[in-house]
Amino acid sequence: KTVYLKDYAPPSYIIEKTELDVDIYKGETFVLARLQFQCLDERPQALTLDGEALELLDIAIDGKALDSTQYRCDHRGLTLHNPPERFVLTTRVRILPEQNTSLEGLYRSRTIYCTQCEAEGFRKITYYLDRPDVMSDFITRVSADKNECPILLSNGNKIDGGDLDGGRHFATWHDPHKKPCYLFALVAGDLAKVEDRFRTASGREVTLQIFVEEKDLDKCDHAMSSLKNAMRWDEQVYGREYDLDIFMIVAVDDFNMGAMENKGLNIFNTSCVLAKPETTTDAGFQRVEGVVAHEYFHNWSGNRVTCRDWFQLSLKEGFTVFRDAEFSADMGSRTVKRVEDVAVLRTLQFAEDAGPMAHPIRPASYMEISNFYTLTIYEKGAEVVRMLANLLGPADFRKATDLYFERHDGQAVTTEEFVQAMEDASGRDLTQFKRWYNQAGTPRLSVTDEYDQEQRRYSLTIRQSTPATPECAEKLAFHIPVAMGLLGEAGELALKLADESLDDLPEDNTHRVLELTETEQTFVFTDIPEKPVPSLLRGFSAPVKLDYQYSRADLATLALHDSDGFNRYEACQKLALATIQDAMLAYQQDTLAEFVPDSTLVQVYRLLLEDNSLDQAMLALMLNLPSEAYIAEEQEVIDPVAIHFARRQVAAYVGSELAELFRLRVSAYDPTREYRAQSDDIALRSMKNAALGYLMLLPTAEDLHLCLNQLARANNMTDEMAALTALVCCEDNTAQEQARDALTAFYQKWQDEPLVVNQWLALQARNPIPGALERVQALLQHPAYDGNNPNKIRSVISVFCNNNPLNFHTGTADEPDAGYRFLAEQILQLDSKNPQIAARLITPLTRWRRYTGDRGQAMRLQLQRLADQPGLSPDSYEIVSKSLN
Ligand code: ARG
Ligand code: ZN
Repeated sequence: KTVYLKDYAPPSYIIEKTELDVDIYKGETFVLARLQFQCLDERPQALTLDGEALELLDIAIDGKALDSTQYRCDHRGLTLHNPPERFVLTTRVRILPEQNTSLEGLYRSRTIYCTQCEAEGFRKITYYLDRPDVMSDFITRVSADKNECPILLSNGNKIDGGDLDGGRHFATWHDPHKKPCYLFALVAGDLAKVEDRFRTASGREVTLQIFVEEKDLDKCDHAMSSLKNAMRWDEQVYGREYDLDIFMIVAVDDFNMGAMENKGLNIFNTSCVLAKPETTTDAGFQRVEGVVAHEYFHNWSGNRVTCRDWFQLSLKEGFTVFRDAEFSADMGSRTVKRVEDVAVLRTLQFAEDAGPMAHPIRPASYMEISNFYTLTIYEKGAEVVRMLANLLGPADFRKATDLYFERHDGQAVTTEEFVQAMEDASGRDLTQFKRWYNQAGTPRLSVTDEYDQEQRRYSLTIRQSTPATPECAEKLAFHIPVAMGLLGEAGELALKLADESLDDLPEDNTHRVLELTETEQTFVFTDIPEKPVPSLLRGFSAPVKLDYQYSRADLATLALHDSDGFNRYEACQKLALATIQDAMLAYQQDTLAEFVPDSTLVQVYRLLLEDNSLDQAMLALMLNLPSEAYIAEEQEVIDPVAIHFARRQVAAYVGSELAELFRLRVSAYDPTREYRAQSDDIALRSMKNAALGYLMLLPTAEDLHLCLNQLARANNMTDEMAALTALVCCEDNTAQEQARDALTAFYQKWQDEPLVVNQWLALQARNPIPGALERVQALLQHPAYDGNNPNKIRSVISVFCNNNPLNFHTGTADEPDAGYRFLAEQILQLDSKNPQIAARLITPLTRWRRYTGDRGQAMRLQLQRLADQPGLSPDSYEIVSKSLN
């Protein structure tokens, strides 16, 4: 069943007050709900509440039990016939959290009872109007066994608590802010906590608490300092203060996503909150910082101002991702953060935008909303907010967000209102810009240029086109900001457009943002003394693909001299991509073994390595060849085998040409130096580990020794994992023997740390050495694996199918389609237990149209097999059916 945005209608009733009594017993939980309903307009004939997997025990209106003619109950909800204008509905239901494997609603993760209600999980707790535009005052009383669950939490402030008969106790919480039920949360369990305080700008004293299992108490410091940094940052950058006396974070092991912004009681996947140097990589530390900030920022962008309906999801997610990205940029290196985010966008989101699930950041329809927590809604949504922020400039953008928060505080609104605030605060006409909200697909810019020596004129012609997507064939032109500069022999050229007067020119006139609004537009620059190299789409100023015929010499110029750090990186990527594409050609002609790459790439890398002024993290990123996924995204028809071997060949060439420089980096590093998760230290490690990775492609005995030495002596997981990875993925025979022992020893050492075990599993799943499918199948039988835990499923199955393209697409020696069949079997096994996670696993199969003959057909066959499965979940059904159409 498809839901359409155009069918939106406001609710006929609101729920002014919600009182819940949640009584947790072993194996079953009873939920008593007292809901104060008020009709808003004409009284309807019937009122339907959402409810799923609930056993209704009692029902009454204004204290009078209903008889069976007054209501109807089925597996989707509860319909009240002829409801009064204003009434209190009391229901009592029984639910089974211990048996709830969907991890939606109230469920049990190890020893902890917790909730996940976004998007539509509250209906698995009690009958309710489960939609974000119904906002209510919540009082929640939780009771449970005092020994099993000494900690009882819900949203807001604790207003009561005490002991009960039979070894039980209770706590009552009141949330003073009205909220939609998707922000409801409840936690009960035996949890330890760390506590800190934060004083807001206006002087409110806030208690900060992070609840974890006792054994994880030593992994909370980073999340706590990230939280305090985020609270300060939101005050300084957006003028947003926290609004309750207490802010709580709870870590649970079983969680479908990263974390959830429930009012005053955020619930996190342990992977996004726990961190300590010995067990967590630099990337892990940065993820914790980013996700803690993200959830905290939702308190304003999501909770105080929420979504009218789920089509507006990007209103809160796109904006909040933009906010957390800017926060991380301010805490660490801005360009590094930008490069990392763009890499994710261009591989994963662009692929989504080119596939059967393509949708605009504000979709017009969906079958299952859980399927729309996508890279498009989050990452592309953030890019759209970033374009707005750049078009308005810092002062007007701040005026606009102030206006948005002030105007809509306590409301459930749409993306229209967000853009309206941008228009009202800045006076800009954003009519055309709004097309970013309802047209899917990645626009492609084709740029050509012309230089007229005589007239000293340089003209850039930019054409835009956007491929058809399922919801829309003909695209109207987007409003696209193209940040740019021009590089000449001696540096960046002064820019003056032909229609500009000299007085309008900014002081630094080497940088310009061209606003493309037509299908084709020409921009003419005057007084240009020489033919320049254009630096286009600086900072990745718009989520588009860009074509311009750069020579390798042009790319070298940009890589070495552009003032825009992002475009220096981008020039390296383009140069590397061109080199890998040459190698792919050689692969297809069966001449890869003799192939010698063009030397420009190595020349550029050498100059970069010798430039001591470069940020080492940027250097590492610039030296990183484009991922197989990114290369694939650039191919019309994907040949994963050619991509893998071509990329590997170029990498090995780089590694051997620059071996001396790389060896210097690795041996100069002191593995015992004290660990800090600061950006300059992270930078050093990332460059050193990139160098180690290159060396270990064709290692000498000395390289192998360096690697083993790092593995043995590392005092932090970043270095330990980098060495283990380099060793495990090395094809050298001696290295392979060492790798087997190292993997065993690593597991022995870390088997009691689930988050480290996840990394151990993921490393083996993405190891490209042939035989990965057999290794993965063996891992599923390993005691470390747990087929009900999303983190484990992701570490093994998702990583294998998404990050090990060579093995996923080649299967086994006898059965080339074995990878596809393996995935389909895993999806079928999971689908009835946890449909949200099952549906997410389907993604790699949805791209079947991009693969050559046999492969594409074999992938399609597995989708068909899923489609034929009786009782497939709506989640999986939506993705499978859209992919086959
Ligand atoms: N709002 C959460 C976040 O982005 C995501 C929760 C989504 N949950 C889900 N089951 N789809 O921070
Ligand atoms: Zn979010």
